[in-house]
Amino acid sequence: MPIQNVRDINVKSKYVLLRTDFNVKVIDGKITDTFRIDASIPTIKYLTNSGARVVICSHMGRPKGKSESDLSLRPIAEYMNIPFVEDCLNKDFLSDMHDGDVVLLENVRFYIGEEENDDSFAKKLSEGFDVYVNDAFAVSHRSAASIVGVTKYLQSFAGDLLIKEIENISKVMERPTHPLVAFVGGGKVSTKIGVLKKLVSIADKIVIGGAMGTTFNFALGLPVGDSLYEESMSDVALDIINFAKQNNCEVFLPLDKGVGKVFDKNTERINRDANDIHDDDVIMDDGEKTIARNKELLQDVKTVIWNGTFGLAEWGEPWGRASFELARDLAHFTKMGKIETVVGGGDTVATLNACGVFNDMTYVSTGGGAFLEFIEGKELPGIVALEK
Ligand code: 3PG
Repeated sequence: MPIQNVRDINVKSKYVLLRTDFNVKVIDGKITDTFRIDASIPTIKYLTNSGARVVICSHMGRPKGKSESDLSLRPIAEYMNIPFVEDCLNKDFLSDMHDGDVVLLENVRFYIGEEENDDSFAKKLSEGFDVYVNDAFAVSHRSAASIVGVTKYLQSFAGDLLIKEIENISKVMERPTHPLVAFVGGGKVSTKIGVLKKLVSIADKIVIGGAMGTTFNFALGLPVGDSLYEESMSDVALDIINFAKQNNCEVFLPLDKGVGKVFDKNTERINRDANDIHDDDVIMDDGEKTIARNKELLQDVKTVIWNGTFGLAEWGEPWGRASFELARDLAHFTKMGKIETVVGGGDTVATLNACGVFNDMTYVSTGGGAFLEFIEGKELPGIVALEK
């Protein structure tokens, strides 16, 4: 059964439990990036404008069933300028709500029943509500009580953001305009095996960079110095290269690297060819020839999927150079209308923000792990629960 859109029902005077993913970083009480919060505003506005009584529920961090003041959602309620309810199981406030009101509940992961998808917790959480809306794509890969469990007790619908995520990522995976190139970076091949296999089966070209690229280069017998890589993933890397060949997907690995002598952001950046990495070199970014090659690849593609940075982008220049250059080039070609670009993953999105090009992409997903699982073709429990 297709999932039902909350816009298709009358929500006037209904008590709506709205699950969002407000899992954002808060440092010293300040939200570092409001993207995930802002992305759910259309659903919230639609519901309140339609006269619903909206109670927002989210998690933050991994408190493992204990209250942690650092992981309180209070700063988010302040940012949104809405009332805050300190205990997500306290329903006393419901009787004071009017049509169009909206409140935010405290972190649902302060209860252990949330992550365990405990049935009695899900039942208590859903008490007092008429309708459940999932707008939390980014956590829909978790079988949690507020994602899956509550759908047993409440009529359940998808919000605008959830639908937008499904439509945009499905489009690029199922009906991309070719040629399609996938850029995949990040630390570990072991966390992206399924994603890499899926991408080489649909893309015309794949660029593997960052520490993952180092692992692939190691598997091909190239030196990697004193760098981060996964020795145990050599066979997997070779398998993926073979699988790509069988699927006519060209694989592009780092040609050179930005290295330093110590793992420190202030250390001097030296450029070295991939076959000339010294034993005491620490690879911390992809190199200049690789950056130029990536730019060249963009000349004749129509669709780009990007997940994962190529170096220590969080350190800024010079160690984020390969990621920053790609972000700027993608922005340039996307704005010109030459390519469609879909981006996902926390670090990758932070890179877009660091370069001021977030709004130039065709679509930016709020998902990290959920984005990868969806790309891989896995069924996300939160979406499956809405199909019942
Ligand atoms: C995310 O940030 O990817 C989601 O909010 C899920 O968080 P989790 O990995 O802690 O379940």
